[in-house]
Amino acid sequence: AIERTLSIIKPDATRRNLTGKINAKFEDAGLRIVAQKRIHLSPAQAGQFYAVHKERPFYGELVEFMASEPVVVQVLEGENAIAKNREVMGATNPANADAGTIRKEFALSVGENSVHGSDAAETAKEEIAFFFSGLELVG
Ligand code: CMP
Repeated sequence: AIERTLSIIKPDATRRNLTGKINAKFEDAGLRIVAQKRIHLSPAQAGQFYAVHKERPFYGELVEFMASEPVVVQVLEGENAIAKNREVMGATNPANADAGTIRKEFALSVGENSVHGSDAAETAKEEIAFFFSGLELVG
């Protein structure tokens, strides 16, 4: 089915001017960027977005990193977009990511891993609504 998923190009990647190279990976995989904006999250906003990880030992570090510099938030659309995006991103830890994936090619560490992508249909819906209004979503 045609799905939409929420993607974030993280500060380690925007800082190194990798937005275009990462977007090319999405587009080459058949994912269409149907909404996109560059924003600088406050620590409170980053903390709210990652609230599900609140009890994890890396939460503070994750929130600080995501608020450190601008990110690009985007909605990707396509056939099986949620799973396809996770394939294109590669494993969370770049050390475990397959060749050709975004994280294998660009990520610096498990924390500074260049991209985030929704993990399931329900979270995709919530995460898209966190960043985008209906008016910003053009099919
Ligand atoms: P993401 O897909 O954005 O979802 C949660 C993030 O937490 C994950 O990518 C990683 O960047 C980060 N993360 C996961 N495990 C660790 C860890 N052990 N240390 C630091 N950050 C982590």
